Amino acid sequence: MSARLDGKVAIVTGGGNGLGRASAIRFAEEGAAGVVVADLLEAPARETVGLVEAAGGRAVFHPLDAASRDDNAAMVALALERFGQVDVLLTAAGVSHGAYRSGDADIARKRMMESVDNALTPWVPFLDLTVEELQAVLDVNLIGTMLAVQAVAAHLVEAERQGSLITIASIMAKSNSGPVPYNVSKAGVWMLTKIAARVLAPRGIRVNAIGPGYVSTNMTAAIKETPPEFLVPFMAQIPMGRFGEPVEIANTAVFLASDESSYFTGEILHPDGGFYTE
Ligand SMILES: NC(=O)c1ccc[n+]([C@@H]2O[C@H](COP(=O)([O-])OP(=O)(O)OC[C@H]3O[C@@H](n4cnc5c(N)ncnc54)[C@H](O)[C@@H]3O)[C@@H](O)[C@H]2O)c1
Repeated sequence: MSARLDGKVAIVTGGGNGLGRASAIRFAEEGAAGVVVADLLEAPARETVGLVEAAGGRAVFHPLDAASRDDNAAMVALALERFGQVDVLLTAAGVSHGAYRSGDADIARKRMMESVDNALTPWVPFLDLTVEELQAVLDVNLIGTMLAVQAVAAHLVEAERQGSLITIASIMAKSNSGPVPYNVSKAGVWMLTKIAARVLAPRGIRVNAIGPGYVSTNMTAAIKETPPEFLVPFMAQIPMGRFGEPVEIANTAVFLASDESSYFTGEILHPDGGFYTE
């Protein structure tokens, strides 16, 4: 039986953890010929490389600051050098706030408790928002996505090759409830995705977004530690009553990466447990 990504080469930004890691592994399981695991954090990204290899795939780590044009260009160059081509990009590098460091539970917990405290006075974090905080989130989530899409698309256009580029937005891309920097960055990713899809379609390059609901990763771990008066109404927003698992998002990425989605472009898919049924 042929696998769904037979022979394709993928670049996964934010591949060191969470949704990026799960997708890198699923890509390998579906026959990808190579995966570039790009991340700011070397240790977890090298672990992902090992997990991809254990799944029967080939992978290489690339040190990436998503907001650096040079790092993104070098990421594409590495894919070409090691695997000879690029067919798929998944941009999973992201932060939920300016101080976010994936896996730093103390920072995540402190930030979550501030959100709980502010739940009844939502104007306070809005009025206190600094340019530095806004910039830090936009740099990774929006500018980082733009630079990765641009770098891979530039190569594909020049090489006259087709490809599938997948961005990770969020349900928050369409929600007015949440922190300004994060929601604005994700709304920007969604608009960027639609524009890139339109301008790249004539060159055979598809661009789609995944807009996940709440998924069990480092980014959301602290939510589960909040007091019941916060957590119970929070969970009530999700008709399925549970967080998603990273593999459930990775399966969406496999579909968008594969030729099964050949007539999809400029679309956003929401694996979100029914968040958007209302
Ligand atoms: N977990 C969720 O519930 C959820 C829901 C919707 C959208 N998302 C989005 O999915 C993406 C992945 O998040 P996750 O939940 O897997 O979180 P995660 O923390 O598990 O993974 C994020 C990865 O991005 C990397 N990263 C952060 N800043 C970077 C930078 N400047 N350059 C390169 N890499 C960087 C981190 O090191 C980490 O490995 C993010 O864009 C996030 O906003 C997550």
